[in-house]
Amino acid sequence: MDVTTHDVLLVGGGGAGLRAAIAVSELNPNLKIAVVSKVYPMRSHTVSAEGGAAGVIKSDDSLDEHAYDTISGGDWLCDQDAVEAFVNEAPQELLQLEHWGCPWSRQDDGHIAVRPFGGMKKMRTWFAADKTGFHMLHTLFQTTMKYNSIFRYDEWFVTKLLVDDGRVQGVVAIELMSGKIQAITAKSVILCAGGCGRVFPFTTNASIKTGDGMGLAYRAGAPLKDMEFIQYHPTGLPFTGILITEAARAEGGYLVNKDGYRYLQDYNLGTPTAKPVLRSMELGPRDRLSQAFVKEQEKGRTIDGPYGPVVHLDLRHLGEKLINAKLPFVRELCTKYQNVDPVHELIPVRPVIHYMMGGVSTDINGATPLPGLFAAGEVACVSINGANRLGSNSLPELLVFGARAGKAAAEFASSAKPISNSILAQAFDEQRRIENQFLRNTTGRERTSTIREEMQQTMETSAGIYRTESSLAAGAKTLRHLQERSDNLALDDHSLTFNTDLVAALELSFMLDVAESMVQSALQRTESRGAHQRTDFPKRNDEKFLAHSVVFRAADGRPRVEYLPVRITRWPPGERVYGQPAQKASAS
Ligand code: FUM
Repeated sequence: MDVTTHDVLLVGGGGAGLRAAIAVSELNPNLKIAVVSKVYPMRSHTVSAEGGAAGVIKSDDSLDEHAYDTISGGDWLCDQDAVEAFVNEAPQELLQLEHWGCPWSRQDDGHIAVRPFGGMKKMRTWFAADKTGFHMLHTLFQTTMKYNSIFRYDEWFVTKLLVDDGRVQGVVAIELMSGKIQAITAKSVILCAGGCGRVFPFTTNASIKTGDGMGLAYRAGAPLKDMEFIQYHPTGLPFTGILITEAARAEGGYLVNKDGYRYLQDYNLGTPTAKPVLRSMELGPRDRLSQAFVKEQEKGRTIDGPYGPVVHLDLRHLGEKLINAKLPFVRELCTKYQNVDPVHELIPVRPVIHYMMGGVSTDINGATPLPGLFAAGEVACVSINGANRLGSNSLPELLVFGARAGKAAAEFASSAKPISNSILAQAFDEQRRIENQFLRNTTGRERTSTIREEMQQTMETSAGIYRTESSLAAGAKTLRHLQERSDNLALDDHSLTFNTDLVAALELSFMLDVAESMVQSALQRTESRGAHQRTDFPKRNDEKFLAHSVVFRAADGRPRVEYLPVRITRWPPGERVYGQPAQKASAS
C-alpha cells in the first residue's frame, strides 16, 4: 500500500477547508498540508451559496446586536462564547476576503453594500449579487494557489480516520480515478466535509452532501452534537429542491397562499408592508416560516402542484431592472428549471431541507474531544447556530472557524509526536474491508439505491418539520433495520476506475449513521425548540433541555445520547419575538 505523509490533513476542499489550509500556511509555512476532497474544490457545495454572508460593517449596527439576533434566532441553544468570537471575527474575515479579491457588491459611493436577511434586525449581509458562495470559493481557491505547502488530493474519497495512541493520525482514502486505496498520514486532521442534507429526499444540498465527515468522526469515537436540529429553508423549487435565495425576500419579495394572501401575518411575524421590514413577515427566521407553511397546508390554503403543495413567491412588483441587478441567478434558475420568469410570473416554492445545525462536536477552536481531530464549517457544531441558524451566518462561520481550526490544528501538529508505526496495519485492515465487503463481494442481495430511498422517506416521515414520539420511534426502528440490510449490499460495478457504485455504498453507510443519530437525538428531546418541533411537547423546556445533545456510537453501533450544558455569557434565555422591535441585549 502507498503511504504519503503530511503534517495537517484537511478532509474537504470547500470554503472551510480552503480557509483552514490558508490559516495553516500562514501560521507555519513549513507545515506540509494535504487537502483531500471527493470533488474538485470548485465543485464543493460552498459554490452554490447564494444570498450572502453576515458581518457587522455599518455604523448603525453593533456586534452585540448581531450576537443577540444569532442567539435568539437559535432559540438560546447557541454557545454564547462561540457566538461572541464569531460576530467579532466575521467582519475581519469578510474584509480579508475582499483583500484576496472577492468582488463584493457595492453601494453607488463604493462602500460595501449590505442587504437585510431573515431574523436579523440590522442590514449586515454582504453579498456578491446572488452568487456569493461562487465568488467566495473562487477567492479562497485562488489564494491557496500561492502556497507551495498545500498539496491537493482532488477526487479522493476518505473512508476512515486512522486512530492510534488515542489520537487521530491520518486517513485511508480511495483515489477515484484509479481505485487505489492509500494511507495518508498526518499529525492533525481537520474535517471540513460539509453537511448531510442528502439524508432527506428533498434538499437544496448537492448530491455530494452525504454526511461523510460526520460519519467518519462518529465511527472514530468523536461525538456528534445537536443532531436533531435540521433546517428547512422556506423557499425551494418543487421537484428539484433548488434554492430560491432569501435575498429574493430581502429585496422585497412576498410569500402568498392560494388566495394571494400574505399569510405570514397570521403567524406572529408582523403585518404586511410594501417594503421589507427587518425581522418581520418574509424576513422572519426560517424555522417559523417553514412551520407556517405546514399550517397553511393544514388549513387547505396551499396550492396543489405536480410535486406536492406549494405557496407562491411574488417578485413581480420588484421590476425587471432590480431583479436583473440583484437577483440575476434567481431569474436564471426559475426560467431554466421551473419555466417561470419571476419578472412576470409567480414562483412556486415549498420548504426544503437546507442546512444541518448539528455536527461534529467542537470547542471554540474547532478541536473535537478526540485529540488530533478538528472540524469546521457545516460538518461541525461549535455551536453558533443553536436550534435554528440565521440565513447568511454560515458563510462567515466557515471563514471564522475554518481559520481558527486551521491555526489550532497547525499548533497541534507542530508539537505532536511522530506517527505511530502501527498505523499501517489499520490501513491494511480498511483496504481489506473495502475489497471484501464491496469489490469482491458477489453474494450481496441489497441495492444501495433502494436502502437510500427508504432511509430518505423514513427521515421525511419521522423527522420532518413536525415530529412526534411515535413518528420518531417508528423511524428509529426502520433505520436500525436498514443498517442491518446495508451489511448485505450488492454492487453492480466491481471495477476500479471511477466506481460510483462503490462511492454510493460508502456514502450510504455514513448517511445511515447520521440519520440514526438525528432520529435518536430528536426522540429523546421531549420539547420544542427552533427547528425541532414536537407536536406532543409543543413548549420549550429550559429547565430540562437548555442543553446540547451529544451522541456517541456505542459498541453495538447504536447511538447513545448524553447532554452538555449550553454556555451562556450575557444573554439569558428569553422569548423569541419577531414582527416588532426586538429586545435589547444586556450591557457588556
Ligand atoms: O437563501 C439563501 O441565500 C441562503 C443563505 C444561507 O443559507 O445562509
